[in-house]
Amino acid sequence: MGRPSSSKTANGGGGAGSGGDRAAAWRELFRRPPPAAPGSGAPQPLRVVAGVVPKDLRGVYYKNGPVWDGSADEHPLDGEGFISAIRFTGDGSVTFQAQPVVTDHILAERREGCRVRPGAFGPSDTGPDVSVKNVGNTNVIAWGHDLLAFYEAGAPYVLDPKTLMTEDRYLHFRDGLPVMSGNAALDATMRMLGKFGDAVTAHPKIVAGAGVGAESGPVMVLTTVRYSLARGPKAKTEVTFWEIATEGVVVQKHTVTVRGFAYFHDFAVTDTRYVFFQTPMTVDWDAIPERGIARCLRQTLGEPTQIHSIARKDGAHTSVPFGGGDSFVFHHAYARETTHGRTEIVSVHYPEYNVPAATAACATASSGGSGGSGDVRGELRKLLIDWRESTVRVRKMARGQWLEFPVYDAAHHLVFATGEWSPEGGPQQAMVRVNATSGETQFWTRRDAMFGEPVVLAGTGVDAGYVATMCRRIATGDTTLILWRVHRIAEGPIAEIALPPGTPLGLHGMWAADGAA
Ligand SMILES: [Fe+2]
Repeated sequence: MGRPSSSKTANGGGGAGSGGDRAAAWRELFRRPPPAAPGSGAPQPLRVVAGVVPKDLRGVYYKNGPVWDGSADEHPLDGEGFISAIRFTGDGSVTFQAQPVVTDHILAERREGCRVRPGAFGPSDTGPDVSVKNVGNTNVIAWGHDLLAFYEAGAPYVLDPKTLMTEDRYLHFRDGLPVMSGNAALDATMRMLGKFGDAVTAHPKIVAGAGVGAESGPVMVLTTVRYSLARGPKAKTEVTFWEIATEGVVVQKHTVTVRGFAYFHDFAVTDTRYVFFQTPMTVDWDAIPERGIARCLRQTLGEPTQIHSIARKDGAHTSVPFGGGDSFVFHHAYARETTHGRTEIVSVHYPEYNVPAATAACATASSGGSGGSGDVRGELRKLLIDWRESTVRVRKMARGQWLEFPVYDAAHHLVFATGEWSPEGGPQQAMVRVNATSGETQFWTRRDAMFGEPVVLAGTGVDAGYVATMCRRIATGDTTLILWRVHRIAEGPIAEIALPPGTPLGLHGMWAADGAA
């Protein structure tokens, strides 16, 4: 395993702690904050505890993530969505606001007063049900006049960007099983009854339009998947890519059908194509009511991952095999076309799919019992894909260090991620900056803390690139937002802002430069 580069700076006390401590600390990252906590209603002013917040920062950092009640039979990632908004007002002051996401499934549970559907990780007290409760807890995207909460096993929900209150499902997407019977009339009926629905990716992309039709402005690209009811060799997966304009108009969509069960958490978009990775998987359907879908996926070890390309122009599909069954990808940092007609894509690759890795790179590789076949640490790799020659060149980045939550700073061609400090600790121990051209790595850690997904904040001044992350002190639970200049991570933060007590670290989010309150 690679160690951090020599350009690190550590300014925290305490130690990394044991793997068990880290696993417990990881679960606490998602603990539901007190109902009366500051920020649970109107925006509350935040205190800057170190440094100065740049005055050219004007916008909102939106974040989503599960909140967990500490129940032993509920996985933290099955917790209901909690949206926060950290607003930079442009005068150096910052406010905080938060609200829970309230999906139709959550409303149904409130009505019934009990669990109605299992989470993606179980449990089984809902009877023989293979549906998944949409908890709206994975990502949040500001798009047009809307704020959208995403959960990959259900429909997105629209929130009011000012109040963060949940309004309705987005467009015509519905919650329900993402399956197809092969009979269009039956499928339509089941959809109307709410039995069949949409699994919409939790990682939509905002990119330039492909110039199709009248749309050349920015579009949001998302995917939906549907699975055949057939099992074994006849199983197939239908993947649809949607391009949606800011007004909610569907500009175009392309559908491709692939053999087998395709599970992918993230995908990538370039100027000309959509790309997704299909690692061969099987599903233990009969065990889903008992264990939840996330624990019932099994990778077919030894078989290569198929990298699929779908042309944005006409939907043309091609694929390239990659690896020897040692590559499962949860998150991509970026993808782009090269001048030589190849596609460059940077992602975190795992040697196999397994539940600890699936739990958002938590701290359980050495303490939680992977149930897998050994080392599950992911590593950042740059692939160069030649679709015509059907070849893939691989370059390891960041010296093989286990990174997660990779995000891309397109303006400076940098990748930011969280990274490991000690082998017991998992990949949320440090802020890491990787030069996507040279591979040069900078590193900053606070050894008694855990870090959330970085977010790139675009200011308006000269040298106005900033990156931030939420940081939780393990011992005290105190959470802060730390800001750096993008080019000088190792020199240390330029500002640190105290967040309300109990603020959960969350999963994914975005910076909306035009959304300042
Ligand atoms: Fe994710």
